[in-house]
Amino acid sequence: MPSKKYPFLNFQVDHMTIHIDPEMYNTAYVIFKTIFGVSPEDIIYEKRKEWVEGLGEESMTFAARVGKGVVGEESLQNTIFAIVQPSEPKFQHSHSRDLLTKHSASVHFQHVALRTNDLLAFHKYALERGVNFITPILKDEHEDVIQVFSGEWYMPGSQPSGFFFEFVQRNPNEDLLKMLEEHNRESWFRDKTFLGLYQEKEKENQSNNVTPFLDHELFAMIQSNVNRKKFWEITEEDIKMCEEKMINYAKKKVS
Ligand SMILES: [Fe+2]
Repeated sequence: MPSKKYPFLNFQVDHMTIHIDPEMYNTAYVIFKTIFGVSPEDIIYEKRKEWVEGLGEESMTFAARVGKGVVGEESLQNTIFAIVQPSEPKFQHSHSRDLLTKHSASVHFQHVALRTNDLLAFHKYALERGVNFITPILKDEHEDVIQVFSGEWYMPGSQPSGFFFEFVQRNPNEDLLKMLEEHNRESWFRDKTFLGLYQEKEKENQSNNVTPFLDHELFAMIQSNVNRKKFWEITEEDIKMCEEKMINYAKKKVS
């Protein structure tokens, strides 16, 4: 019997994204190549940008495949890291740079992307429980990958953590499988969705208004239900009560 209530909740890790100090970016590349054995074909995406005309291009991000799935399913079952550096010139604001300096870190884990077989169904399910998303469902022109990005996990009253989730669905139709097998490895990551997220996080960061995963009010409601208990004392009954609060909260918000 499946352990999940719905098949669309059976998530697989699609990729993980890390922000990294520019002084470490090229070294990280070398580490992926040498320690993790990443070959030229395993570098499945790289995006460059010339922020200011005449200053030349900088690399914004690269994605390294560190493992492939079992034979027959390898087209979708990959383990991939995406590495992002603040590539903006020093005089220009960068949420990526801000993320690292605010956490006094040279490396910051930013998001994990979970793959589902039905993104529309999951999106609806999550909205009905009060989850905030910072983008609509993003589609690329080929429509073989759809993605949506959640708000950040952080507590009311604390600083935004910088950590959030991406949810993705890849439609393994024949064209996509062929493309992934052949030379179009960039089918894994699309410029439009990468840049869409990058711009959205920049906007949030500059406006100092970071959307949380759950509204602070809803978060506090759940906290008040379970924080007086030890972890192991939380019952299925408690969980059900919290879920009902989420559903009621989301309903009220919509109306
Ligand atoms: Fe991502």
